[in-house]
This record gives sequence, C-alpha cells and structure tokens, in this order.
Amino acid sequence: MAKKYNIAVIPGDGIGPEITSAAIEVLEAAAKSKEIEIVARELKAGGEAVDQFGIPLPQETISAAKDSDAVLLGAVGGPKWDNVDPEVRPEKALLGLRSGLGLYANIRPVKVYDELKAASPLKNPGNIDFVIVRELTGGIYFGKIGSYQSGDRLSDGTVKGKVAYDTESYSEGEINRILKIAFELAMTRRKKLTLVDKANVLLTSRMWRRLASQMAYDYPEVEFDCLYVDNAAMQIISRPSTFDVIVTSNLFGDILSDEAGQIAGSIGMLPSASLGAAGTPGMYEPIHGSAPDLAGQNKANPLACILSAAMMMRMQFGEEEIASDIENAVKKTLESGLRTSDITFVGEGTNIKLVGTKEITQAVIENL
Ligand SMILES: NC(=O)c1ccc[n+]([C@@H]2O[C@H](COP(=O)([O-])OP(=O)(O)OC[C@H]3O[C@@H](n4cnc5c(N)ncnc54)[C@H](O)[C@@H]3O)[C@@H](O)[C@H]2O)c1
Repeated sequence: MAKKYNIAVIPGDGIGPEITSAAIEVLEAAAKSKEIEIVARELKAGGEAVDQFGIPLPQETISAAKDSDAVLLGAVGGPKWDNVDPEVRPEKALLGLRSGLGLYANIRPVKVYDELKAASPLKNPGNIDFVIVRELTGGIYFGKIGSYQSGDRLSDGTVKGKVAYDTESYSEGEINRILKIAFELAMTRRKKLTLVDKANVLLTSRMWRRLASQMAYDYPEVEFDCLYVDNAAMQIISRPSTFDVIVTSNLFGDILSDEAGQIAGSIGMLPSASLGAAGTPGMYEPIHGSAPDLAGQNKANPLACILSAAMMMRMQFGEEEIASDIENAVKKTLESGLRTSDITFVGEGTNIKLVGTKEITQAVIENL
C-alpha cells in the first residue's frame, strides 16, 4: 500500500460500536481501491470507560487520539449512567476530547438527499446543500461568569434580587482562525460565505464583521455577505437552498446548526467534523447521540457515521476521490430504495425496502 492513515476509533456507547464498525468497513473498502491502508485502533471513552476505569476519558484514550491522524467517534452516554456523579458522566468525554485536541471549528454539512426530501419538515425543500462553520471553544460558553446580590431596585420599586452574568468575549486570533477555515471551505464549494452575527447590538459581533470584511479582500472569488442572527434563523427556513457556507460564533452556531439539521429530515443522516490547528487530528462524528433504544438490534442508521468518515477523508487528508466515492455510494444506496427504520416512512409505495445496519452498510460497500 502506498499510504497509511492511523485512525483512532472511539465507538462509545449504545449504537456507537455498530455505526463506527460500519464506517470503518466502508472506509477500508473505499481506501483499498486507492492503495491506501486504514489502520484503525479502538479506544475507550464514555459510559464504557466509566464502567471500566471510573472516568469517562482515560488518559490513554486522549494520548492515543492525539497521536493518531484522525479520530472517528460514535456516540457516548445512555440511561445507565444518568445517575452517576455529574463529574464522571459519559458526555464529559466529549468536552475532554474537544479541549484535549484543541478542536475549535465545528463543521456541520446540511444536505437533503432527493430521495429523502419527503422527510424534511419544509414543504418544498429545494436543493439544500450548505455547511455551518461554528466556533467551538470561545464566546459566551467560555467567558467570565458570576453572580452577585444586587441592591438595585426596578423602576416599579421591587428588589431585583440576585444577578447572574455570562460574558461573550472573543479575541481577534480566535475569530480569524475560524474565518479562515470558512473562507477556505467556501473556495472548495460554491464560493459563497455568510457571516451570521448580531452586529447591530453586540461589540464582539462588530469585531467579527470587521475581521471577516477584511479577510474577504484575500478571497475576491468568494461572494461574502452578513446576516443578523434573528434574520438568519428565518432565512434558513425560507430560502435554505441559497446558502453555501455559514460562519458564526459558538452560541449562534449551536442554535442554528440544530435548526438547520432539522431541515434535513433524519438525524441519522447528518455527519460532522471538529477541527483544530492544521496538521493536528480532527474528530469526525455523527451529530446524533447513542440511541440506546436501538442499541445492539441491527436497527441503527449508520449513514451519518459513514458520511463522517467521508468528511475525514476530504478535510483531514485531502482525499477528495475517496470522500466522493463514499458519498456517491450512499446516494446510490438510497436511490436503490434501501432504508433503515428511521427513514422508512420516506418514499413508501415505491421500491422501499426496510433493512438493518449491516445490510445497508454492505449495500454502500457494493455501491462504491
Ligand atoms: N455526540 C454524542 O456522543 C452525543 C450527542 C447527543 C446525545 N448524546 C447522548 O446520547 C444519549 C441518548 O440521547 P438522545 O436520546 O437525546 O438522542 P439520540 O440522538 O441518541 O436519539 C434521539 C432519537 O433519534 C434516534 N436516532 C438517533 N440516531 C439514530 C440513528 N443513527 N439511526 C436511527 N435512529 C437514530 C433514536 O432512536 C432516538 O429516537 C444520551 O445519553 C445523550 O446524552 C451523545
């Protein structure tokens, strides 16, 4: 084999093991045809690690993830660990991985496949294919917090009581690095970038707007515009097909990416990537959770995890051909009418056939 990629695989809990092994099988098949070897090393995190080591993210996992070329994550958590000490909840592993790997950019593509358009809550979804680039390690989730007893009174004379505050703060460096990722991504797509902010009210947003407008000069081919977040929330519903790349802060991205994800219909179809500095391993994962209700029953839709592996090939390794081979194989599989239970209601009455995790994975491999 000419090349070798070392992938740290963190299956996690619930359906995690089923969907990550499906994604690795597809990845190996797609890479083999290009003389590339995939070396997958399984690591423990989440509830499984809590059971075995008493903590959700063992040091060995984080060290091995750092040493890998890229990380593929299934999902962590489940009702079994609902009552454990909050400090060792399985979901804490996600935060540990994000901070440990310095993952500051969350990339969420939103794509509606023709075959699944009926699953979208929009009447006429059109040709939806855009990406949200969310800043992941700054802003209000990481700003100064506090509370104090206020002696102030409201204008009607009642006492205000205790005051709590969270602060939104961003440095130019934090903004510029995520903007660069967004502009570069736009260059590989339809060359449109929209900054979503609240520059009519927030000082941090005005800084985002100033820096983005400056950077736009370096990308003259990219059509750049700005939207206030409240307007963006409406436009994502009213004209989703006009967006290409959207870049925004941590808080706004958190909310808008869930709104946008819903447009695509099934949570089982949506991949994501979290990226850090150039040359460091990114983490690729489906946006859904561990779906404990489906675990171990061969019912989970593995396509979001398989599409996350395709994102890894494109964004981490520049293996565009492997990425599009996998994406085309997923499309062909949907065209052939195969559906897991979460998407069976779509297109019923035609050639639709309900299959399990293993069967749909094999079909993707055959369609490569
Ligand atoms: N990144 C992560 O690891 C992550 C993300 C979200 C939630 N969680 C955790 O997962 C657990 C379950 O959370 P939840 O139930 O709120 O969300 P969930 O995403 O696991 O499930 C929500 C619904 O979607 C269905 N679903 C999800 N993925 C599917 C797939 N691939 N195929 C078919 N159906 C699918 C489930 O059956 C369920 O009905 C919780 O412990 C939560 O904290 C983990």
